[in-house]
Amino acid sequence: MKRNPLIPYGIIAIIGILAIVIVAGMGVGQREALQADQNGEGPVEEAASDDPQALYDANCLSCHGADLSGGMGPDITDVGSKMSVEEISEIIQKGRGGMPAIQVSVEEADLISEWLSEKK
Ligand code: HEC
Repeated sequence: MKRNPLIPYGIIAIIGILAIVIVAGMGVGQREALQADQNGEGPVEEAASDDPQALYDANCLSCHGADLSGGMGPDITDVGSKMSVEEISEIIQKGRGGMPAIQVSVEEADLISEWLSEKK
């Protein structure tokens, strides 16, 4: 029996179309998530705007650890007994030594600093 030479192409075409539909579907999902973010509906953004702990988690945790005990950066579990709110805020905004300036607003830097200055 002779096989129809068109069948393999048909299968490839169907797989191709399926792949396009799947990728397009993911794109739409991401766009919706992005729009939700821009409208301020994103859960992360909302939490980050006025919750110092969330701001810390987003901007500092990678170097100072989830429990402030350090890692790449020094242990800051009792930083409040060594530094004032102003000093901490300045380090966040300008960086110091091995720590880069962190991209947060002045208000956010102050919020994190007040929270950290209570850690004694
Ligand atoms: C890229 C890694 C990194 C990130 C991100 C980072 N730090 Fe640091 N941090 C460091 C390093 C390294 C030092 C030590 C700086 C030095 O050499 O003087 C430091 C020092 C500090 C100090 C001074 C500690 C002391 O005992 O003198 C404070 C306070 C501090 N960081 C707070 C923060 C806060 C708050 C954030 C987030 C807004 C943050 N850091 C984000 C790496 C980081």
